[in-house]
Amino acid sequence: MPTNRFRKSARTVPAVVPGHVAIIMDGNGRWATSRGRPRWMGHVRGAHTVKEIVTHCARLGVSQLTLYAFSSDNWKRPREEVGFLFDLFASHLERQLASLIKHGIRLSIIGRRDRLPQPLVEAIAVAEQRTAGGKRMHLRVAVDYSSRVSMQKALAVGPAAMPAPDTALTGETILPPVDLLVRTGGERRLSDFLLWECAYAELAFLDVNFPDLAMSELDAVFADFAKRDRRYGAVPAPETIEIPGTNTPSLTPAR
Ligand code: FPP
Repeated sequence: MPTNRFRKSARTVPAVVPGHVAIIMDGNGRWATSRGRPRWMGHVRGAHTVKEIVTHCARLGVSQLTLYAFSSDNWKRPREEVGFLFDLFASHLERQLASLIKHGIRLSIIGRRDRLPQPLVEAIAVAEQRTAGGKRMHLRVAVDYSSRVSMQKALAVGPAAMPAPDTALTGETILPPVDLLVRTGGERRLSDFLLWECAYAELAFLDVNFPDLAMSELDAVFADFAKRDRRYGAVPAPETIEIPGTNTPSLTPAR
């Protein structure tokens, strides 16, 4: 996915903004328990951070933002926490809908819907339909999402179902490859998130718990991304290459 050149204010904005940013929002529970509070408070604070990130990324010119909100493995959590999260997602969707529309942000949910509570399924349908015309940024929220299940499904259908390497395997939509994967909460792993789409993604692992993620830290990650040399398996390319022992002094390398 090509990156966007951002030409507006140079104050805090990097020269190159990743086109597709994916975020594993980890550390809500630890944020809460380290303060002697129940885990759900961490999720509530996390929802505030989600709002900030969405606004910030849209402002910077990120064109695709994908957030991991609920892994298919998160069903192993206590029923109360799972129920709380689904209620939070639904109320957040409803409360943020006007803002998403106003800012031209298209919202899609990726993952299974057949196990989600009906009010959430309905809130998703409304939000997707009402934001469908958004052109500024495509926000995807992964709910009951498993990258391995997506791949299993594609393989079960047969090799023809496997998409081209630079497209995605969500089963219901085609995602562009991830340019930058950010994980908060101190762990250094991808878990089960966009495994196919993260080929050649740049990775940033932050020790901060998700509710504490400041936009200045995200700016620093973007600034670091802008400095990375993304070669996709190639060597740093000179404009021409010498072919020893031939009469052809130089060739323009194939891209
Ligand atoms: C991981 O932290 C976080 C989750 C499983 C839930 C993510 C949900 C939010 C950020 C809230 C709002 C989201 C939206 C899309 C409105 P954890 O609970 O695993 O934290 P821990 O590792 O410290 O226990």
